[in-house]
Amino acid sequence: MIDFSTQYLGLKLNGPIVVSSTPLSESIDNVRRMEDAGASAIVLTSLFEEQLELESRALDEDLSRGTESFAESLGYLPDLDDYRMTQEVYLEHLRRAKAAVAIPIMASLNGATPGGWVRFAKDMEQAGADAIELNTYALATDKSQTSAELELQLLDLVASVTHAVKAPVAVKLSRSFTSLPHLVSRLEDVGARGVVLFNRFYQPDFDIETLEVRPTLHFSTPSELLSRLHWAAILYGHMNIDLAITGGVHSAEDVLKGIMAGAGITMMASALHIHGIEHIGRVLADMRYWLEKREYASLWETRGCLSRRSVPDTSPFDRGNYIKTLSSYSLRQTVAAF
Ligand SMILES: Cc1cc2nc3c(=O)[nH]c(=O)nc-3n(C[C@H](O)[C@H](O)[C@H](O)COP(=O)(O)O)c2cc1C
Repeated sequence: MIDFSTQYLGLKLNGPIVVSSTPLSESIDNVRRMEDAGASAIVLTSLFEEQLELESRALDEDLSRGTESFAESLGYLPDLDDYRMTQEVYLEHLRRAKAAVAIPIMASLNGATPGGWVRFAKDMEQAGADAIELNTYALATDKSQTSAELELQLLDLVASVTHAVKAPVAVKLSRSFTSLPHLVSRLEDVGARGVVLFNRFYQPDFDIETLEVRPTLHFSTPSELLSRLHWAAILYGHMNIDLAITGGVHSAEDVLKGIMAGAGITMMASALHIHGIEHIGRVLADMRYWLEKREYASLWETRGCLSRRSVPDTSPFDRGNYIKTLSSYSLRQTVAAF
């Protein structure tokens, strides 16, 4: 029997598939089904900086029986009713999820700027979260802000969370950084135990008939996996921080590629929305078949075998690949033309 056990954020996990943050885990019944299907941990949906700030300002306002300024100042913030969970509901759900299953439950905080809201990480820890995933979704839209300033802001934010809790903290990152290896090593310096590669960006679509800009959410396809594999393979082995892959993990082959790139775990959301929670069990069975056929004793022995430090030719990860890819394409085109 293949040993699927892996490690992530100092936690011993019984398999490589973690359910990433999705509303599917907002039902305790689903949380149990995820464990039964073979998920080794679950990341709950996020609580948002805006939501936490909004709730604490509402409380202040209530307490001071204040002016109308608070209501007026809410104009630019999303409607509180749009959020799925309030703080108390979130913590109660976290406690119930912890009580329902034996696998680790990770809570998720989602924000962009340091502030009082990060204190909520402590409440999550006290409610039983085995780890905190910090989703740092920031967009640079201000031309006066430099990339160095944005990175410092991110590091401050992560430091404020890692100082607030003893539980391990993983940072869910965007891939848009000039030097990802440098940033990840700084994240390790400020106490992050893991990085989750990568946050998906939900760009709005344009409706040219109504001249409206609309939010869109499409499920991922496996083609999104490549950028995650690429960066996990580059980062693996150069620091102690753990790597997780989210984005485009749909099949056994995708999970195996993620581990071979160097990730400790891979995460699934879209595949479970599309195929159902029991898909996890089918993927694990396919992996078992593949590994047994090649006489592997454990999944762990495959870890990092296709990382940049493990392969004899590193050019596929570097500029060499870019040149090779472009020139091979033009050759094919030329052959086809004659
Ligand atoms: C419906 C839906 C809701 C999501 N909500 C969150 C969220 O609250 N916080 C978060 O960090 N990621 C959220 N995500 C992103 C997923 O956790 C995941 O990172 C992303 O979908 C890429 O993985 P996938 O290719 O397996 O879908 C959500 C994804 C979906 C599809």
